[in-house]
Amino acid sequence: MKMKVFTTPDAMQAWAAEQKKAGRTIGLCPTMGALHEGHMTLMRAARKACDVVIASVFVNPTQFAPGEDYEKYPRQFEQDCEKLEKEGVDAVFHPEPAAMYPKGFGTYVTPDCNETKVLEGARRPIHFRGVATVVTKLMNITRADRAFFGQKDAQQVAVVRRFTADLNLPVEITMVPICREESGLARSSRNAYMKAEEKQAATVLSRSLRRAKAAFDAGERSAKKLVEIAQEELRKEPMARVDYVALRTFPALQEADEVLEPSLLALAVYIGKTRLIDNVILGGKA
Ligand code: PAF
Repeated sequence: MKMKVFTTPDAMQAWAAEQKKAGRTIGLCPTMGALHEGHMTLMRAARKACDVVIASVFVNPTQFAPGEDYEKYPRQFEQDCEKLEKEGVDAVFHPEPAAMYPKGFGTYVTPDCNETKVLEGARRPIHFRGVATVVTKLMNITRADRAFFGQKDAQQVAVVRRFTADLNLPVEITMVPICREESGLARSSRNAYMKAEEKQAATVLSRSLRRAKAAFDAGERSAKKLVEIAQEELRKEPMARVDYVALRTFPALQEADEVLEPSLLALAVYIGKTRLIDNVILGGKA
């Protein structure tokens, strides 16, 4: 079956309704496009778990604050479609912003919880309201039974789990492990902003997480010490400017002096002008 492309919520929803009527389960992989191997791991997880796979490709304006990279965010829809077709994705939803946020739009999903206030939420105050709003709309438009998100944005997964539970949305959330380049760099569409020398410097993020994880595996349970170990490694890279290194419970994202399993060791680091995030989950089952 040739991959279908829908650009309006009505057409997408009508097709999804037909799939449901035929008794098929629907897996949604929400993306902002500029697809890389990390996104393909989401598609494969969805392919395994669901009868029908829908990918959305939409650079969502409401999750970017003024001055962030909304305009500059890479857009390459044709290449994205080629990759999705190869993975056997059944349908792509690719709306214009005006189709998602038509004149008069005024209903936002605003999660008011710890998960949206810390880490990225403390730095990007409107970000998770935009994510929650668009993800809720995408789930409704695609009639998803399951939705697949990457662990690289682990806080996003925690937020999505929170608001889908709070609102009783009948969608099961699956977190797919981080996909890394051979160098250890977590795959991200924003890696395209970096020059070769910066990409090399950016490998310090995964190195610092690996060192902290090794200490955890060797028995270290002090949050402060594990954060220090990661920071020490980051300091070795002159091009790195640390925004935060934090250890929180997962998925509630509460502070804890000792590691409660599972916990999230998360960091945000500038390499040149590019802000990168990465994380590792310590212990337990996330
Ligand atoms: O993770 C992303 O790419 C975006 O935040 C998402 C989930 C597609 C919502 O716009």
